[in-house]
Amino acid sequence: MQAAEIKKVTCIGAGVIGYSWALYFALKDLSVTVYDVKQEALTLTEQRIGESLAALVKNGVVKDAETADIMGRINYTTAMEQAAGEAQFIIESGPENYDIKRQIVREAEEFCGAETIFASSTSGLLISEIARDAKHPERFIGAHPYNPPHLIPLVEISRGEKTTDEVIQTAKQFFTLIGKEPVVLQKEALGFICNRIQMALYREVCDLVMRGVCTVEDADKAVTFGPGLRWGIMGPSLVFHLGGGQGGIDGIMQHLKPSIDLWLKDMADFKEFPAEFGATARAGVEEELQNRPAAIGNDAASLAEYRDKMLIEMLKLHGKL
Ligand SMILES: NC(=O)c1ccc[n+]([C@@H]2O[C@H](COP(=O)([O-])OP(=O)(O)OC[C@H]3O[C@@H](n4cnc5c(N)ncnc54)[C@H](O)[C@@H]3O)[C@@H](O)[C@H]2O)c1
Repeated sequence: MQAAEIKKVTCIGAGVIGYSWALYFALKDLSVTVYDVKQEALTLTEQRIGESLAALVKNGVVKDAETADIMGRINYTTAMEQAAGEAQFIIESGPENYDIKRQIVREAEEFCGAETIFASSTSGLLISEIARDAKHPERFIGAHPYNPPHLIPLVEISRGEKTTDEVIQTAKQFFTLIGKEPVVLQKEALGFICNRIQMALYREVCDLVMRGVCTVEDADKAVTFGPGLRWGIMGPSLVFHLGGGQGGIDGIMQHLKPSIDLWLKDMADFKEFPAEFGATARAGVEEELQNRPAAIGNDAASLAEYRDKMLIEMLKLHGKL
């Protein structure tokens, strides 16, 4: 099957991630079926999709007149036969648990064709293990989204031991065709690429705060108004390459090596997150929220609304919306 032939997608598991995937596929003109074991989850998904579409209309991404068609491209079912029967691409976003994911695989494979590509949104389970009892383990991939998948372009594609290169390439092309930015892990790595990068940064935030070097608020401000602005445009290697002037990235690494080596020796390298940081981080975040005007979010709901509004503006600048 060619990537461009994929027109029917099934989302299994209609929670936080499943609803958002379904909305994204429908926005991209695909015919979507959403399956969940619970009818309530499907009802809630339909409601969430309506709310997210309303936010996209409010931010000028979708026209009000288009919403009925987008909603109309999505079907909901608790019957696996209907969900998997005609699917060309299945993405499961069930609970992060091997037994449940294997059960989903078993049930879906009863009805789907041998050509169907089967992806998992798993945040960290092994694809080989999810597909352990599968009839066709060669068609299984990981497709790790960033929340919310209907806005964030990144998909981290990973493979199991038996996944074929052809399936990886077709999935990569498919995601590219529908406007995602897939990256492919060449080998299995816990936490994939981005959770590892995020945690490396956050280990340092934790250490700086615990050592009394800065507050939680100042660490957030430093990232938001410093490197975070540049990282929203291009990755850290390109940023360093520019910073190196004519010498480029290798030039700057060589030039700064004496300093970088000193920093690295002084930086955190702990292998377990200090449990006591939870309370410190919470107190720091609450203080930070008190200092923020409501317009840029100062509680969970207004922060999420502000994040999504800004994400949309940034994605427009990237030509992604
Ligand atoms: N939440 C995140 O930020 C995030 C980000 C990236 C990846 N993920 C991954 O996505 C997956 C889903 O996470 P979530 O946060 O959406 O979870 P969730 O709890 O919000 O949703 C899970 C859904 O699966 C349904 N479900 C339970 N058993 C099922 C079964 N046998 N068949 C079909 N559906 C079943 C539940 O009813 C529920 O609606 C997980 O693997 C998670 O690791 C989550």
